[in-house]
This record gives sequence, C-alpha cells and structure tokens, in this order.
Amino acid sequence: MSEPTRILVVDDEENVRRSLAGVLSKKGFEVEQAPNGADALKVYRQNPFDIVLCDMRMPKMDGMEFLRELGGADAAAEVILMSAYGDIELAREAVRAGAADYFSKPYKMDEVMLRISIAEQRLKLRRENIQLKQEFIQQNSFEKIIGRAESMQSMFRTVLKIAEFKSTVLISGESGTGKELLARAIHVRSPRKDRSFVAINCGAIPENLLESELFGYVRGAFTDAIRNKLGLFEEADSGTLFLDEIGELPLGLQVKLLRVLQEEEIRRVGENQPRKVDVRILAATIRDLADEVRAGRFREDLFYRLNVLSVKIPPLRDRSEDIPLLVEHFLQRCNRKLKTKVRGVDPVAMKLLMEYAWPGNVRELENQMERAVILCDGDRITPDLLTDKVSKTAPQSAAHLPAGQLSIKKTTRAMEEELIKRALAETGGNRTRAAKLLEISHRTLLYKLKDYRIDADSYAGTREGRR
Ligand SMILES: Nc1ncnc2c1ncn2[C@@H]1O[C@H](COP(=O)(O)OP(=O)(O)OP(=O)(O)O)[C@@H](O)[C@H]1O
Ligand SMILES: [Mg+2]
Repeated sequence: MSEPTRILVVDDEENVRRSLAGVLSKKGFEVEQAPNGADALKVYRQNPFDIVLCDMRMPKMDGMEFLRELGGADAAAEVILMSAYGDIELAREAVRAGAADYFSKPYKMDEVMLRISIAEQRLKLRRENIQLKQEFIQQNSFEKIIGRAESMQSMFRTVLKIAEFKSTVLISGESGTGKELLARAIHVRSPRKDRSFVAINCGAIPENLLESELFGYVRGAFTDAIRNKLGLFEEADSGTLFLDEIGELPLGLQVKLLRVLQEEEIRRVGENQPRKVDVRILAATIRDLADEVRAGRFREDLFYRLNVLSVKIPPLRDRSEDIPLLVEHFLQRCNRKLKTKVRGVDPVAMKLLMEYAWPGNVRELENQMERAVILCDGDRITPDLLTDKVSKTAPQSAAHLPAGQLSIKKTTRAMEEELIKRALAETGGNRTRAAKLLEISHRTLLYKLKDYRIDADSYAGTREGRR
C-alpha cells in the first residue's frame, strides 16, 4: 500500500483548523495543523507535506508570504489557499504567484475534497514526470556520459566490449567532447576499477620534467633529487594511466614511452635497474594522430602501438538530438550544486541551443547552462539568458552561407573559421583572450590557427590593439 498523503492545515481560526483536520484524518490523510505561516514553515521544514491548505489572512505570516517562502510555483507541495468571501481577487493573485488552487470560506467539504484529489493527481504527475526524465537520461547514457544519438550509442557498445581488456585505447575527439569522461568510464568498467586511475596532461608539463613525472627518479639523479620519487607509471601500477593530449608528447619521450609499452617495465631516471609495471594505458588526443605521423611530428611505431583500439567521440554539432538531454542533465546538476530551482528551457531558447554549432562542444554547453541558471530569476531559461554568441551569431552567419551548401562539416568549418577571425579582430590578435572568447583552450586555438592557416599577428592593428 502506498503512503497516506500528508496534509498541513494552516489557519488562525482554531475551529476551522480543527474541523478541517478532523474530517481529513477520518478520510485517511496524515494531517498536522499550524496557526500561522511562520509556525507552518517550521513544521513543514522538519518534515515536508504533499498538500498545504492555507488561510490567506493570518497574523505573523500570511498565506502569500508563506507561499513565497515555500518557493511559489517551485514549491514541492501543492498549496491550496483558503480565502474569506470577498478576498477572491487576492486568491487569484496567489494562484498567479504559484498556488495550486484556492477556495473560499465558508467552504463545503465536498468542494475541499475535490480540490484535494485534483492536487493529488497533479502531484503524482509531477513526480512521475521527474522520474521519467531521470530514467530517460539514464537509459540514454553510459556511466555519466549522455548520448542517445546513434553515433554515441554505437560508441558505448564498442566501449563495453573493449573495457575489460588490457589493450591500449586511443580516444580522439574535439576539445570538450568528453574524452576524459570516457577514459574514466572505461576504467570503471574494467577489472581494474578498484585500483587507481592516474591522469596526466602531456601538453601541460614542461618537456624536461615530463620524464621524471612519468617514470620517477632516484635520489641523486640530478641536483634537486634529494629523495626517490615514484613516477605516474608506478602510481598507476595495476590500475589505469590516462595520457591526455598524447599528441603533445615530445619526440624524445615518444621513444621511451614506446619501449615501456613494449616491455612493460620502466626505468626511474638515474637508475639502470628496470622495474616491472602492470598498467593499462588510455590515451587521448584532439589531433588526428595519423596526420601528425604524416607530418613527422608523431612516431609511426608509437601510433600503431597506441591505436590498438580506437574510439572517436563525435562533435556535439553532429548530434544535436543529444542537446535537450544534456540541457536537462546540466539543469538538474546546476540546481543541485547551486540550490536553484530552474525547471526547464523555453522553446525559443531550446531552438537556439540546438542550432548553435558548439565549437567548445559539451563543455561549452555546460558553461552556457550554468551561466543561464545563475542569471535566471524565474523558473525557465529564456533566450535573453543565453550569450550573444548562441542567441545571435549562429542564425546570422547561417544567412551568409552560400546557397546550396548542405555539408555540415564544411559549413561548421566555415563558421568556425569566421568565429576565430572575429575573436582575433575583437582582441587585436591576442590569442589568450581570443581563446577565452571562443571558450576553447589556448592550445586548441593554436592548433586551429594552424589548421585554418590564420595569421593571428595580422590582427594586431585591429580594435583592441590600437587602444
Ligand atoms: N556526453 C556527455 N555527457 C555528460 N557530460 C559530458 C559529456 N561530454 C562531456 N561532458 C562534460 O563536459 C566537460 C568536458 O568533458 P571532458 O573534460 O571529458 O572533455 P575533453 O574531451 O577531455 O576536453 P579537452 O579536450 O578540452 O580536454 C566535463 O564537465 C564533462 O563532464
Ligand atoms: Mg580533457
């Protein structure tokens, strides 16, 4: 049997309160009473109710204020207000402020019961709705990675198959597509899940420190080496080592890494004795490593050794059907993190979110949602809460596109190039600030500049530069 519905009756007139509570208890509800809004709030906060029947006019805290304290339309409970005859206008205003319903006093018990049963229905629908949304997200995700697009679903199937083996996996995808998230998911689905997952960004550590970072060193190996230091390979022993931005690994270290992968043993810097390690390697890159090999920047033998299994995460613009789901996921997460109560996104804003090209992929969408939630006063995300980039740029630049151009790949590249040029013009060629505007990493920008053959320095005389 399901739990009885909990009802709180709030009224300063004792006889009204008592008689209502009496009848409702007899009908099997779990009922409590309070003589004013302030007391009601205390009782409510100790143990929330499903439905609150609340008088409009009371000393201390009146019905409207109580409703506001509960969160108005976002209140978890259904609040039904009771107004004295003649107060109907006030009661209507309360409904606009988020009350579920109202009735006037003197009341007929039949009418009260009808309103309560309507409120119960609505409560049930609301709860089912929240649960369905959560289930839907879960059904369309893998670990914490959301994706219902076929490209993502087929990636999840691949990952499930390869997770349990020790083979190296090369994960590729643009910035912000979830490469690290995927690496963690693979680890969690592997027999190594209870051992450590160690991550290192090969592009973020100076070349001269990278070797000792990876392999450790022994005392006296160099001037500062006053004690032995464990490298990340040993830290990850019997676990997983995630080599992020593997494309940035200097050529010299590529040789050493290859040897480690082949022999499964490392040498600490300053030591000749090899040590056995049992590490599963996952590597990630935003570059096309095959291209890097052709350009002579990446060793072919290491590429083949890493690329035993490969997974490519598609960019967000190629799977816009995932956007509503991601939006819902980030809304729920922001609400939990920021204690906000934003319930949804209005249709116009959703359309903009779905049309935007997301050069920064899921990370950019995540930032956009967090920003909108913080700026949001009501319970819905409206277009004015989105940045201009999302709400204005996309349709405008779409209008410039040559007619008959339907290739998403070519179009988004053209758009991306255009956005980069605008950001450079905006910042007078300042790459760091341009990367910020574009919401991509500095490194990604440098890579794209090369890719599109854009000379950032030629923007030095523009707007910002002249200031
Ligand atoms: N499919 C997804 N579902 C839910 N969250 C995602 C998804 N993809 C990415 N994210 C979130 O987006 C953010 C960026 O993800 P992550 O750091 O894994 O990307 P990345 O590909 O490693 O980016 P970069 O190349 O810039 O390092 C994280 O907060 C992550 O949780
Ligand atoms: Mg990353």
